[in-house]
Amino acid sequence: MAESRQNPLILVVHGPNLNMLGTREPEHYGSQTLEAINASLITKAAELDLQVSTFQSNHEGEIVESIQKAVGQVRGLIINPAAFTHTSVAIRDAVLVLDVPTIEVHLSNIYKREPFRQQSFIADIATAQISGLGASGYLYALEALAQLVT
Ligand code: DQA
Repeated sequence: MAESRQNPLILVVHGPNLNMLGTREPEHYGSQTLEAINASLITKAAELDLQVSTFQSNHEGEIVESIQKAVGQVRGLIINPAAFTHTSVAIRDAVLVLDVPTIEVHLSNIYKREPFRQQSFIADIATAQISGLGASGYLYALEALAQLVT
């Protein structure tokens, strides 16, 4: 395995209320905590000769800033914008600025839910979207980025 400092860095961004995973609506979002999801991403990244940096915020502007700070620093983005998926032009614009392969992840299948969840401001600018595979979706996204960036 290559030295980890040379491994391509992937930013993983989690939007609002995802800090409550584990207890939040488990019928939609499963029982894994965000900490457990992040730990599994770090383990998987090492297997794939990638590095991950994880970030969660309940604030739109903080998410925009985390993406802006990653410009020139990361080779790929995994983002679950959570409720901001359906509202945020600002996060969409930040993803366009970052301009790296991007996988949009949703734990639940947003297309099987309320009509307002079926619109994504990210989907048409993302490389791909994974929706409805639970926490495994993040790991599949990382595998996809390993193919795309290495
Ligand atoms: C979500 C779906 C969104 O509609 C919702 O607001 C979330 C989580 C998902 O992962 O399924 O917070 O992005």
